[in-house]
Formats: sequence, C-alpha cells, structure tokens
Amino acid sequence: MIENEFIPDLKLSSIPVGVVSWSAPSNIALVKYWGKKENQIPENQSISFTLDTCKTITKLYFSKRDTSDENYSFEILLDGENKPDFKPKINTFFNRIEAYLPFLKSYHFKIETSNTFPHSSGIASSASGMSALALCLMSVEKLMNPEMSQEYFNKKASFLARLGSGSASRSIEGDLIVWGKHNAIEGSSDLFGIKYPYEVHDNFKNYNDTILLVDKGEKQVSSTVGHNLMHSHPFAKTRFKQAEENITKLKAILKSGDLEAFIALIESEALTLHAMMMTSMPYFILMKPNTLEIINKIWSFRKETGLHISFTLDAGANVHVLYPENETEEIYNFIKTELVAYCQNGHYICDQIGFGAQKL
Ligand code: DP6
Repeated sequence: MIENEFIPDLKLSSIPVGVVSWSAPSNIALVKYWGKKENQIPENQSISFTLDTCKTITKLYFSKRDTSDENYSFEILLDGENKPDFKPKINTFFNRIEAYLPFLKSYHFKIETSNTFPHSSGIASSASGMSALALCLMSVEKLMNPEMSQEYFNKKASFLARLGSGSASRSIEGDLIVWGKHNAIEGSSDLFGIKYPYEVHDNFKNYNDTILLVDKGEKQVSSTVGHNLMHSHPFAKTRFKQAEENITKLKAILKSGDLEAFIALIESEALTLHAMMMTSMPYFILMKPNTLEIINKIWSFRKETGLHISFTLDAGANVHVLYPENETEEIYNFIKTELVAYCQNGHYICDQIGFGAQKL
C-alpha cells in the first residue's frame, strides 16, 4: 500500500454540520520506536500492547464554512477549557494530513478532548490524543463516503494518527500492534500499525500494566528532539538492526508463552532506549533515583519469588510494571507495599491490555 491510496478518489459529499466522538487508548511499546525519517517514517519496527484504562476521549463538532481561506479554522478545549497553546501542534498535524482529507479547510472544527489520566502525570497523551482525533476525522470522511470498508477506515486512521505522532499509529486497535515494515510480519507497513497477525499464548492474555508515576513533571526531552538525536548517533545502525531482530524473537516468544524470554527481551529494550539517550550528543538521563530503586526491587522480588514481574519504560522516569494475569494478586500486593512509596505523591495507575478505540 502506498500513500496515494489514502487520497480519497470519490467526490466527497458535503455534510453541513455534525458531531462525532471517539475514545482512543494509550499504548506501551515492548520493542521501542526511537529514530525516524522524513514524514514520520520509523527507522525501526516497533510492537506495543494497547492499554485499556489510559485513554483520550474526543468529541469533534464540524460545521461547513461559508468561505474557506488558506487557514484552518478550529478551536480546542481540554476538560472544557480553551487551550490555544495546543493549536500549533494541531495546525502542523492538519498540514500533514490535508492531502488525505481535502475537506479540512472547508469546515470549522471544535475539538473537545479529555484524558482519563491526569494531564501532568508524565504519561504522554500524544498517542491517545492524536489517534482519537484521527478517528474523529475518519468518521467525518465516512459520513461523506458511507461505502468505506472497516479495514480501510482503520488503516487510514492509523496512517493519519502516525502523521500526528508516530506511536499514535499503534493506538487504533488492540491488543498487540506492530508498526514498521518487517519481513517476518505479514502485512506490516511503515505507514500504519496493524494488529499482530499471529498466534499469541494465553500467558499474554489480559497482561497487567501498573504505571508507577515517579515523576509527573514536563518531559525533559521531547520525543521529537530524542528521535532527531538518532540521526547522528554512533550506535544507531546497530540499534535499528537489534529492534528488527527483537521483533523476530518476540514472535517466537509470543507463540510459545516463554515468560522468562519475554521479560529479558522487554527489559533489555527499555534499558536500550535509555542507553540511546545517555549516549547521544547532547546526552540525557531520564531515569530518576526512584526509577532505579523500583527496578532493583523488581529484580530482587523476581529472584526471591520466581514470579514473572517485569518492567518497561518510555522516554521518562515512570515505570510500567508488567505481569501476567494469573500472578496478579501476589504481584499487586508487592507493588502496593514495596513500590508505591517511590511514586510521586504515591500516585500510580492500574491498567491492562486493551482492545482498541471505541466510537462513542
Ligand atoms: C519512547 O510517538 O512520541 O515512547 O513521532 O515524534 O510524536 P513522535 O514520537 P512519539 O515517540 C514515542 C517513543 C517511545 C517509544 C515507543 O512508543 O515506541
């Protein structure tokens, strides 16, 4: 599939006014996307668990403008409050997607959005936020072109979301999503995320993700800056190759249900992501002392009990604690008694694998 297939070839019928609404989940990468080319094309393939509780809910009101001009016409509200500071990001997004949604300048949009997780939690809302908006825009296109297939709808929603934020391409469906062309994954593409198409062992069903909020502050490095640092990174090539190999390895692990191998792979991915940041120029340490305390506690508890607790990280200090459903009771008790003390104000979020966005 190539980009041009996402340019509507039908004359889209015009609808004067309407409203559409979607809830879209966040996701947590197991093999990390870090490094991109022009037009939000990833340097390496990534795979993620779609989350369930952490999501963005977006309502999009649209009304036909009497006259259209060179500018987009929209307003954006977060939790009912006007957010003019969000406008430049949306403007850039609209510029990137206009070729694929030619009606954008003919409408005024009111975007009402809210997140189920606190804005200042250190959890990025770009994946769920951009995918919710992309889905709303696809619903507008679908009203104009009711014949559109579900498959095309999902692919194009992921394609558009990717142009807003790379990881957002993985927030349309669930429960495991692959983004980036990979020889061992049929149907995979650099342009959009796809549902992982192979057998997954029961060990990974309803997997838990308890997110420990170690630092709720603004990100020290934006992901755009971080991705760009991979351009001149001395280890970039090796890292991209490693990610590709890790996806191949993960495919076998997901089938066999080998939890030990799963843990080794995802923890190594998390630490490699941070190692890339520590070894770029300029360099960054995004973990905090409490991030390391938590990691060490997880390792000792795993050694003592043989339970399958593990962690992953995104580009910040928070820790995602991952564990299988049948070990929930003991591991959750351990988290509450031993790990929550390292969270800022004791805050954490209980989440688990989810099954994708929902039309409201
Ligand atoms: C560390 O998707 O936020 O979370 O494409 O610039 O918006 P942009 O980057 P973004 O990068 C996410 C990076 C990551 C790893 C991952 O989710 O795969």
